[in-house]
Formats: sequence, structure tokens, C-alpha cells
Amino acid sequence: MSVHDLRGRALSDLRISVTDRCNLRCTYCMPRDSFGPDHAFLPRSGLLTFEEIRDVVAAVGGLGLKKIRLTGGEPLVRRDLDRLTRMLRVALPEADIALTTNGILLATYAMTLAEAGLNRVTVSLDALDAEVYAAMADVDHGPEAALEGIEAALDAGLRVKVNCVVRAGVNERELLPLLRNFGPRGITVRFIEYMDVGATNDWSMTSVLPGSDVRALVEEAHGPLEAIAPLISSDVARTWRTKEGWVFGCIDSVTAPFCGDCSRARLSADGSLYTCLFSNQGHPLLPLLRGGASSDEVRQALVSIWSGRKDAYSEQRSATGERSGRVEMSYIGG
Ligand code: GTP
Ligand code: 5AD
Ligand code: SF4
Ligand code: SF4
Repeated sequence: MSVHDLRGRALSDLRISVTDRCNLRCTYCMPRDSFGPDHAFLPRSGLLTFEEIRDVVAAVGGLGLKKIRLTGGEPLVRRDLDRLTRMLRVALPEADIALTTNGILLATYAMTLAEAGLNRVTVSLDALDAEVYAAMADVDHGPEAALEGIEAALDAGLRVKVNCVVRAGVNERELLPLLRNFGPRGITVRFIEYMDVGATNDWSMTSVLPGSDVRALVEEAHGPLEAIAPLISSDVARTWRTKEGWVFGCIDSVTAPFCGDCSRARLSADGSLYTCLFSNQGHPLLPLLRGGASSDEVRQALVSIWSGRKDAYSEQRSATGERSGRVEMSYIGG
């Protein structure tokens, strides 16, 4: 059974936020003046339990779910993530299970996660240079822990990608070093346009470096690029190959929106389903999950939510758009 929304898009991808907390304070995601010591994070009792997350996954599984991504906040700050991974692997043996992480704790957990059935990780890493890294993540250390995390993930047999959010004028000079570091090792770096997600970052169009400029930068240094045809139409990244054979991606959600194929639902850490990254409002599933609903009833609720969906925010974005009330990315899971 599959379910389609009002624009004919199937639900094939579930992004699960397991916590709204993080051990970094990236300026574009959790700026310190909004996410300081006084910020009210979700209380532990308000988080979905692993069993509840598994129940949602099992219900969506019956609707043709192919990909599960564990996110946060930073998912590795939630204890025992390997236990959840194993439960999801048992619930959906064929699914692609991925993790988006900042990599800081990955060296500790990579092996147990791989053994539990995780297929791959995407590590967010915006710079190799210690000062630029610290400026992007608003911390007082460099990328050493994240780099160790990447090595540990490779040693554990996990497939690895790197995500780099590009802020015009802040980390532009890091793009080629990242490509030259990871390209030869077969690790795809994806350069992401800075998005106006949430209501707390200082996004403006002038802080976006268009993906076309990123490609021009790479072409200037490495010659003509070969575009690689996408394997899955709902992939958010388009990929290119340099003459050296290095593959990199661009996620141009501001200058080239990809809502047309968007197959992603998002489950917040406190159990609401969001049908768009830019939503103001989620659909709370907790009353069902804690009220003794059967898997069929949960599935019916999901069918009804997805069938009524018509989101296409990135296609409709305007530079002066109203942002208040919009859910934060650290809460909804990227
Ligand atoms: P792959 O399966 O490896 O392609 O993962 P992914 O690219 O879907 O997930 P990842 O967590 O690596 O996200 C990469 C970037 O794309 C992040 O900045 C996400 O916020 C952004 N992104 C992912 N899905 C969407 C989406 O549906 N809409 C928009 N606008 N951005 C998205
Ligand atoms: N714009 C673009 N990407 C962002 N991410 C977090 N905030 C933003 C933003 N405002 C990225 C993270 C992570 C992924 C899930 O989303 O760096 O790699
Ligand atoms: Fe944390 Fe990721 Fe947000 Fe950075 S982008 S603050 S690592 S959740
Ligand atoms: Fe999907 Fe919303 Fe992103 Fe468009 S803006 S691709 S509908 S999540």
C-alpha cells in the first residue's frame, strides 16, 4: 500500500528527530542568543520513547517507507541510540537507515551503531580550518572530533557523506579544501545553501551563496564538471564529478527548490508529524500512541495527514516572508 498527497507525491522517507538538544550552536541553526542556558528544551517525559518511535515506523512501513533518517538536534546526545537502531532494523529489515550527526560523539558510537544495523552516516562539517569551524559552530574547538568520528564510521563499514552549510563570506574559502580532502577518498561532500528555516537565525538572501557559484568555484580550480544523473528522483542533492573523479553534491533549496518530488515526512522528538521543513504546525501523534491505538489506527491517521498535504514552501518562498511561529530545524530534524 502506498499513499499520495494532493500533488501526487508518495511518502517514502521518514526523518526522525530523537532530541531537540545539541552539543554545538551552529549560528545558522541554534544561535546562542536564542538557544542559551535559559532555553526550554523538551522535558525527557515529553520525548517519544524508542517503542513509540518504532510503532510509528512500523505504521509508515506499511505505506511503502524506504528510508529512515535519525536526526536531532544532535541524535548522538540521546542515550542508547543503538537500541533504537536495532529496533527499527527489526521493524523494517529492508529500509535504508541513515544518521545525520555533527560527528562529535561518532567515534564512540560508530561501531555499535553499525552492528545494530545502521547503513550510513552524514556528518555535518562546515570547515577544516579550526577558526572557521569554531565560527560556524560557535564553539571553542576545531573539527578534530568530527574528523575522528568520520574515520571511526569508515572503520565500522558505514557509508559516509559530509554536509557543509555555506554561509556567504564566512566559510566560502573552506569549500575547495573540503572537496580536496574528501573527494579522493570517495566521500561525497554536499554544499548546502543556507536556508531561512525556523525563526531564529539571521538568514537573508545576501547570506546565501548560490550553488551555481559553488560549481563555478570548483570549475575554476578543477576544470569542467560532469553532471551525474540522479538515482532517486526525490534526492535533495544534485551531484557532479570533477576531472579527478571526485564526486560532490549541491543542495540548492533556495535557488532551485525541489518540492516537486518531496517524499519526506518528519517526526519531531515529542511526537508530532510535520509534512514540511517549513511548517508552522505539526500533527500530534502522542494522543494516539499513548492512548492505546492499534498500528492500523496509527497508519490510518498517517494516511489522512499525508493525503491532505500540499506543502511546497521552497517553491513559494519570498525574501520578505513572515517567519514567526515557524518550527526550528533542531526540533523538527533537518
Ligand atoms: P541523503 O539520503 O543522503 O540524500 O540525505 P538527505 O540529503 O535527504 O539528508 P540530510 O540530513 O543530509 O540533509 C541535507 C540537507 O538538505 C539539510 O540541510 C536538510 O535540511 C536539507 N533537506 C533535506 N530534506 C529537505 C527538504 O525536504 N526540504 C528542504 N528545503 N531541505 C531539505
Ligand atoms: N540551512 C541549511 N542547512 C541547515 N542545516 C541546519 N540548519 C540549516 C540551515 N539554516 C543542516 C545541518 C545538517 C542538516 C541536517 O541540515 O548542517 O547537515
Ligand atoms: Fe547542532 Fe546540527 Fe544544528 Fe549544528 S546544524 S546546531 S550540529 S543540530
Ligand atoms: Fe519538501 Fe517542504 Fe522542503 Fe519543499 S520545502 S522540499 S515541501 S520539506
